[in-house]
Amino acid sequence: MSQSAYPHLLSPGRIGAMELRNRIVVMAMGVNFSEEGGFSGDRVVAYHEQQARGGAGLVISGACGVMYPVGQVQPWQIGISDDSFIPGLKRVVDAVHRHGAKYAVQLHQGGLVAGDDTKAGRPQWCPSVPEPMKGDFTEGFLLEELKAFASAGMPTYKVLTHEDIQVVVNAYAAGARRAKEAGCDGVEIHGGHGYLLSSFLSPKTNKRTDEYGGSTENRSRFLVEVVRAVRAEVGPGLAVWVKLDSQEVGKEGGITLEHAKVTAKLVEAAGADAITVSAYHDTGIGKLHSASNIPHEPNTLLPAGAAIKAVVGIPIICSGRVEPEHGDAEIRAGRLDFLGMGRKLLADPELPNKLAAGAAEQVRPCIYCYTCVSAIYTLESTRCAVNAECGIEYLRVDAPKPAARRRVVVVGGGPGGMESARRLARDGHEVILVEKGDRLGGTLRFASLAYAPNERLLDWLRLQVEQAKIEVRLNTVATPELLKSLKPDDVIVATGALRNMPPIPGGDLSHVFSGDDMRKMMLGESSDALQQKTSLLTRIATKAGAATGLTANLDFVRKATHAWMPLGRNVAIIGGELVGLELAEFLIERGRKVSVIDEVPRLGKGLTLVRRMRLLAELKEHGLGLFASAKDIRIETGRVCFTDASGGACTVDADHVIVAKGATGDSSQADAFRAAGLRVHEVGDGTGVGYIEGAMRGAMRAVDAINAGAPGAA
Ligand SMILES: Cc1cc2nc3c(=O)[nH]c(=O)nc-3n(C[C@H](O)[C@H](O)[C@H](O)COP(=O)(O)O)c2cc1C
Repeated sequence: MSQSAYPHLLSPGRIGAMELRNRIVVMAMGVNFSEEGGFSGDRVVAYHEQQARGGAGLVISGACGVMYPVGQVQPWQIGISDDSFIPGLKRVVDAVHRHGAKYAVQLHQGGLVAGDDTKAGRPQWCPSVPEPMKGDFTEGFLLEELKAFASAGMPTYKVLTHEDIQVVVNAYAAGARRAKEAGCDGVEIHGGHGYLLSSFLSPKTNKRTDEYGGSTENRSRFLVEVVRAVRAEVGPGLAVWVKLDSQEVGKEGGITLEHAKVTAKLVEAAGADAITVSAYHDTGIGKLHSASNIPHEPNTLLPAGAAIKAVVGIPIICSGRVEPEHGDAEIRAGRLDFLGMGRKLLADPELPNKLAAGAAEQVRPCIYCYTCVSAIYTLESTRCAVNAECGIEYLRVDAPKPAARRRVVVVGGGPGGMESARRLARDGHEVILVEKGDRLGGTLRFASLAYAPNERLLDWLRLQVEQAKIEVRLNTVATPELLKSLKPDDVIVATGALRNMPPIPGGDLSHVFSGDDMRKMMLGESSDALQQKTSLLTRIATKAGAATGLTANLDFVRKATHAWMPLGRNVAIIGGELVGLELAEFLIERGRKVSVIDEVPRLGKGLTLVRRMRLLAELKEHGLGLFASAKDIRIETGRVCFTDASGGACTVDADHVIVAKGATGDSSQADAFRAAGLRVHEVGDGTGVGYIEGAMRGAMRAVDAINAGAPGAA
């Protein structure tokens, strides 16, 4: 095994008494996987075991309630508030140790974020009664997502007395003792993210006038007492460290880096072995997680990590969308000691092993779509859009193994087709991938144009297909006759959704494009409709692009469209789901004035909650006209007319109109193959629009069915 590409990241490290095989840390992620009652069961064990098997040095549990269920923030959060939690925890520890990784529990009390306290009629524990929340956190929710919150009432508060503070301190110490008894190697005391300890640290939420309020030293007192009590309870043998916020984004008057530096020195003096540097993001502000604990912007936490490292002598753990090579360089430069990873290891827990094996290009990439985090906000268990196995590792143990080698034709080279082909080849089947276009990618190519991180998945899937030596037939239309001539045992149909132009008055005017027209135009593909509608210049440019192969390079298209775009200044998009909104973002970045109009009451379906909230806020910032609940939409030359949500007549200017609406599942091709006597399994948007997550998950199910020898029904 070569470690040459990441010599620092893959070198052993130490936190207190805990020796680690490398510097890669699975960050604490509360993933909602516990059994009823907060116990660690098969699901948690298999999830963490996979992370350890994947090669990380240290695995940290999700937030674990030291006073569970008091202070609970998730319905299936893990508890550590009673000795009855020890056996389950011990199973996790043993599983992680089997693979040479170390395991730590994150000790937690949710304080002002403990939604479960409110739901159960308990008060939230806090330093002082907080100001009402700014903004409306639920504004970006779809109506169906709001249901998760229907039963939550208004929070009530318990302002902690000195006796209460002692109760909490004791609860942390007892939690640490249980972690030690279960065989854990360390505990991370959660001192961030708006939870109880950080609500004391934050001048915004701590308005106390006693020795726990006022100066930074006073606000840190509670945390320091917790660290001391934990250390006294577990002794020097267990690594003990603290997760701290370096800032509170969107919380005016909250924690600053200067505060965090003072607190860091105090917890070091109290006996902490390391500090995990994070940041908090007020959920009341729209651009959720732009630059905070689960940041959209890469590397945003690193400067704070380095600044805190400069004032303490203990190691620093830092995360936040940091690529391994960058993390390696930061460790080499002495600005960081351990690189934490969250989302990347959900997408591919084998990442550390792959880096160590010199196979970084094999790492299945996180596309920063926030499926994982959004699930938590809507009180579901975490899922990963690109790793269908994430969170169901315990069920995958019994996944069907291939009974025999089968010959399978996959129809459609989009994400569902490529992922199916990859899985089939991995399981030893003979695979022929048939694509009617001249290259692989399908809808993922356009999705990559609109949201660049998607391109990493496109590249990864292409590479997998290429390396698996799958027979790929491009420019090939799959007819029942062709398929029958190939004599497959099974056929997977992954041909995507049908995008019909919905009947909108004026939809046939020459300045109106369908979503498909737009997609084709951007990617240098042609169609009869486009031939009629686009100007001569555009046609030449489109053809030239396609002919020279330049449009295969999405980065080129992204850049070129800044200079050249066959659309007028004012563009109206009819359709406010994922495709419409991402298109709006793409066009705004290219200087267009965009309006989005839809009949639905809430925009952004198909986007994950976190991404939707950020995108809607950004679009509003750019002055985009967003019109939900529109009625009687009518396209005229140069404008779109409709009745707005308040019942008023409304008109927006539109040199061009794009109708990004009307995608539906389409089984007609699959039905034709079935009628020809073929064994058919359907995957992806053809079965109902499910985007990347649906495609990846559908591929897993279809390949399971083929392995099990099941008749085609997926
Ligand atoms: C699904 C999910 C759940 C998380 N839950 C927790 C948590 O329970 N405690 C915590 O301190 N941080 C939590 N985080 C934040 C991570 O610990 C980490 O700081 C963050 O994901 C940044 O790393 P990344 O950019 O590599 O994902 C969570 C993150 C994710 C993605």
